[in-house]
Amino acid sequence: MNYLDCWDVSANDFPTGCDKLEQIKFLLRYAILAPSNHNTQPWLFEVRGGEVAIIADRTRTLPVSDPDDRELFISCGAALFFLETAARAFGFDVSIRRFPQQHDPDLVAVVEIGKRSTKRSGRPELFEAITSRRTNRSKFSDNQLSPASESAIEAATSANGVRATWINSRNDRVTLAHLIGLADRAQFEDRAFRKELSSWVNPDRASEPDGLPAKSIGFDSPWNYVAPLLIRTFDLGPGKSRIDEALIQSSAAIMVLSTGFDKPIDWVRTGDALAAALLTAESQGVNASYLNQVCEVEDTRFRLAKIGTVQGYPQLVLRLGYGIPVAPTPRRPLDSVIRIRADAA
Ligand SMILES: Cc1cc2nc3c(=O)[nH]c(=O)nc-3n(C[C@H](O)[C@H](O)[C@H](O)COP(=O)(O)O)c2cc1C
Repeated sequence: MNYLDCWDVSANDFPTGCDKLEQIKFLLRYAILAPSNHNTQPWLFEVRGGEVAIIADRTRTLPVSDPDDRELFISCGAALFFLETAARAFGFDVSIRRFPQQHDPDLVAVVEIGKRSTKRSGRPELFEAITSRRTNRSKFSDNQLSPASESAIEAATSANGVRATWINSRNDRVTLAHLIGLADRAQFEDRAFRKELSSWVNPDRASEPDGLPAKSIGFDSPWNYVAPLLIRTFDLGPGKSRIDEALIQSSAAIMVLSTGFDKPIDWVRTGDALAAALLTAESQGVNASYLNQVCEVEDTRFRLAKIGTVQGYPQLVLRLGYGIPVAPTPRRPLDSVIRIRADAA
């Protein structure tokens, strides 16, 4: 089975004459293209009539690198934004209730897919960007972001209590590079981290429905075949920290997303903001990738909060710029992430 087929979804195939259930299933083909930590895709979509419940799938956690499920909820927040963007692009009214049931911490959101009109709403350019967006880990060129791109990305990101801070000064970049190096080394020194990461790395790009294709994280052929073994066995931290330092210096822009509080609702909002940032960047021809190890190690996360004008709890570090085209990553088939409630219309 080729788990890359999911990227071939086209707006022209929207099932106009079909019932609401088929239309919602079509919208979910866009939601599953959201990014997630280690490509775990930790979400379930329960269709309940005209509503979609987004449920955190706690069977797909990363206990070592994400012990509080913080990045898991960020990923679910990104899927929520992708679903909302697709629904609005096809003219549906959308209303969202985040964490609607106090007794159910896994119920991230209920998205009501309301009446459909022929008028598209939302931001069509963000919808168009869903199928071409990728995490781009290549070295970026020297070209700077245009002020228009920079402010569009910042505006898209800073909403609902999420703050975007650019790391511009040389000093701040040097400090950030140092912290990222520390985080890389701390993670790879830990056998449990290496075991967890290696279990999510796949030699081949399309043969598994989830996880990180080795090539996408820098293991070119023939090393891709032994990547899981190499990661599990050796401490690759020193080498990785050198690569990441170079990536920081070569990035046109670096942005930190932070929040005033550090609860699941803040993480889901961060996912919303992340998705808006990534789709806006893509619509402007700007590539993005992450340097999030610094937020995954407690000590470096704490120190990151003191760099430049970063405030509150750092949630994500993104680098932005112009890289070389990269291939898409696989997704789980839609059927394995959807549940249809019997009363679905
Ligand atoms: C919360 C979160 C944290 C992430 N952290 C990292 C990271 O530290 N390094 C990295 O290379 N990619 C990171 N990623 C990117 C994922 O690995 C990527 O989204 C996933 O492999 C799917 O690939 P795609 O984004 O190209 O669709 C992160 C993604 C999310 C949502």
